[in-house]
Amino acid sequence: MCIYKFDDAFMTTYRNALQEILEGKGYQVTVVDGNNDQAKQNEQINTFITQGVDALIINPVMTSAADTIIATVKSAGIPTVLINREPTADQMAAYDKLVYVGCDAAQSGTFQGELILDTPNKGDINGDGKVSYIMIQGDPENIDAQLRTEYSVKALTDAGVEVEQLNLTRGDWDREKGQTICANDLAQFGDKIEVVFCNNDDMAIGALQAIQSAGRKVNEDIYLVGVDALDAALNEVSNGNMTGTVLNDTNGQAAGAVAEMEKLLGGTTYSSGNQSVYVDYVKVTPDNVKDFMK
Ligand code: BGC
Repeated sequence: MCIYKFDDAFMTTYRNALQEILEGKGYQVTVVDGNNDQAKQNEQINTFITQGVDALIINPVMTSAADTIIATVKSAGIPTVLINREPTADQMAAYDKLVYVGCDAAQSGTFQGELILDTPNKGDINGDGKVSYIMIQGDPENIDAQLRTEYSVKALTDAGVEVEQLNLTRGDWDREKGQTICANDLAQFGDKIEVVFCNNDDMAIGALQAIQSAGRKVNEDIYLVGVDALDAALNEVSNGNMTGTVLNDTNGQAAGAVAEMEKLLGGTTYSSGNQSVYVDYVKVTPDNVKDFMK
């Protein structure tokens, strides 16, 4: 199993779920850390191939490396499940023993927008007729970051809500960057900021620290949403310090990835246009947050 980097809160939960399921089924699993370095991950894939592994589960470092990864596993004939960073259907069509398991990123963005639409003033806290927001983006090379950024705002505009983007900054999925970006934006735009959209929860937790240091109060004078439903975010939703989040279902995706791996090992092949398996996202609000807390 190749993970893009171990130091990612969401992928840590995900990889642990994968490892647990695989080991529970008696597979021998080796998990390696790509350290966010595609060249390093390419070497790891080659090493696994040389060692003669039966199957690979790969969380690519860069979506743009998909062609190279797919060509490599294809020439070795290794059944491969890609996770978390979705290549295009055309790229996957190059190899019939390859499948992607993940979620439809647009759906998570839409759900974030709906969380804001569900607030009493639909995000327009100061009543000036528009929702003024900042966007803290994940790694912009990643389709999840692109589509969440687009669809969160689209949910508002589709509902006829006027929006104003005060700033959009890449935070690379990282908590500390989320905090720094949000602190800078609060210093620059102050009360103008009504909504803080974060492409994931780890950045939202960072943003929350900045919001609290600035003396602002979530759900009273600012809204804050993330994606993933990390334990820390569930706590904050439950305490009223986050407006909501969206479950990025690690257990469902891990179970799906293992099931697909077993199908490939059993001889299933995939045809073009039919190589992505999706697990649904789920909106998490104060009303249902208890259902997701352990
Ligand atoms: C998650 C992020 C994570 C990223 C890694 C996304 O789906 O929401 O938390 O950092 O995947 O690629």
